[in-house]
Amino acid sequence: PRCIWLTRHGESTDNLIGKIGGDAPLSGRGKKYGDCLSRFIQHQRQENEKSRRVEAEAGMAISPLRERTVAVWTSMLTRTKETVEGFDPKEYDIKHIRFLNEIYAGICEGLSYSQIENEYPEEFEARRVNKLFYRYPGMGGESYLDVIQRLNPLIIEMERMTSDLLIVTHRVVLRILLGYLMDIDRSKMPEMDVHLHTLYCVEPKPHGTVVKKYRWDE
Ligand code: F6P
Repeated sequence: PRCIWLTRHGESTDNLIGKIGGDAPLSGRGKKYGDCLSRFIQHQRQENEKSRRVEAEAGMAISPLRERTVAVWTSMLTRTKETVEGFDPKEYDIKHIRFLNEIYAGICEGLSYSQIENEYPEEFEARRVNKLFYRYPGMGGESYLDVIQRLNPLIIEMERMTSDLLIVTHRVVLRILLGYLMDIDRSKMPEMDVHLHTLYCVEPKPHGTVVKKYRWDE
């Protein structure tokens, strides 16, 4: 793709109370971010179309003037689906993909970090010491390495896309995808800063990858 847009979902009601995992809906602010995101991407599309038309009229069109679509991928969780509710499915190719789900925290799903520290102090410490390798206990519990593994086929698909792409996902998945696109060592991924309500635009260019960061200013 010429441009990959990446963001976390809008703020969820669980984000407000510091609970991890789960399948909470968006808060009021989270919904506003979703609205703003859809307007912003729509505007970017229109601007792109305009400049391509100007280039074509000047006889400078490098690529044929066909409609540039934007694919929108979210996880299967409520908070990412709600974030893209403002995108018109007639104009965007919207897909919900399980591989984009957040890390599954096993027995720690639905707890806050301080609850984990109190109830499972050894687990808390083990994760602190080696966050990349640490796998949450319990059925389906995952580590960062597990998530990197499950994202591999999706990364291949992402690289193959010819349209622009917007990915709306979660903290761990965003760290890994951005880390991959920016060539950051996986050992650094678990500590990357990826805030809510921040949109990244990654553009592969001949001289390297250009990353722009937009923060939603309420
Ligand atoms: O708090 C939001 C969240 O996406 C959780 O669902 C998830 O467990 C956590 O962030 C991941 O961040 P970290 O790996 O830093 O604990």
